[in-house]
Amino acid sequence: MFRLKVKRALFMNSRKVIVPRRLPPPAVDLLGEAGFETDVVAGDHSPPRETLLERVRGACAILPTLSERIDEELLDVAGESLRVVSNFAVGYDNIDVPACSRRGVRVTNTPGVLTDATADLTWALILAAARRVIEGDRLIRDGKWHGWVPGQLLGLELRGATLGIVGAGRIGTAVGLRAAGFGMHVIYCDSRRNEDLERRVGAECVELEQLLSEADVVTLHVPMQPENLHLIAAAQLAAMKSSAVLINTSRGPIVDEAALAVALREQNIAAAGLDVYEDEPRVTPQLVELPNVVLLPHLGSATTTTRQAMSRMAAENALAVLRGRQPPNPVN
Ligand code: GLV
Repeated sequence: MFRLKVKRALFMNSRKVIVPRRLPPPAVDLLGEAGFETDVVAGDHSPPRETLLERVRGACAILPTLSERIDEELLDVAGESLRVVSNFAVGYDNIDVPACSRRGVRVTNTPGVLTDATADLTWALILAAARRVIEGDRLIRDGKWHGWVPGQLLGLELRGATLGIVGAGRIGTAVGLRAAGFGMHVIYCDSRRNEDLERRVGAECVELEQLLSEADVVTLHVPMQPENLHLIAAAQLAAMKSSAVLINTSRGPIVDEAALAVALREQNIAAAGLDVYEDEPRVTPQLVELPNVVLLPHLGSATTTTRQAMSRMAAENALAVLRGRQPPNPVN
């Protein structure tokens, strides 16, 4: 009994923090200044799973990104010393939260600080897909532009069009508020009414079916929970207007990528803009071949300001737990 207590006390004294891969400042500096020893396992890309499993043993904290799976196996290997999993992301579908809770391990995330960056990128995709920006760029680079043509690369006029927001949380709301500047009518679906969005841009709460059939631009902002897997599949794509644009900056598995490739190829919908994929970094090859889809490499939160704010937040969440305090952004 005494030995067990000593063992646990030793674990509780672990000062090893695992940072699976290089993060923007200041997370590592903040943890170091607080007296923790950070082990940055890899460079820009996720370390091999085996390496992460070897290094996580005996750590008191881990700061994963959305690409590192924090599951039973990893938690078992980390052992009793682990007190906090501080995700460097707002989405935490990479973490088995109930498994952490069962072990008394706190989980935290980085909400709020990436809302505007992600909403801006959503608009970059809306504009790029609706106005065929990449196709135009390619035309010039391929030496195929022979002058102004009245009917060339005609796109979707945003003024007066309807923006359909699926999931009106922080990011969905920020996307909806920006729509006012483009003179768009906003509809949304969510299990909860969003009075802020309704009051500020006259948004209307509708069912998903109605949203899909009425929206000219459908934009997805729901978290990756089991019930949202393939929320947009063949039937939902078939319900959309043939002139509509689909945007996904949430999580890849929300959309059935194979069905989307068919819908785009058959022109059942006009265009799509994607920042996330079902099995990142793999992108369905049929999508890559299509001209009417804009493909970005998961850049939603990728501004210097936002990534640094996420880094600070991830460190502060971890440090709060390690100091026995309530973390600012708890998930469990
Ligand atoms: C990015 O995708 C995040 O969830 O922060």
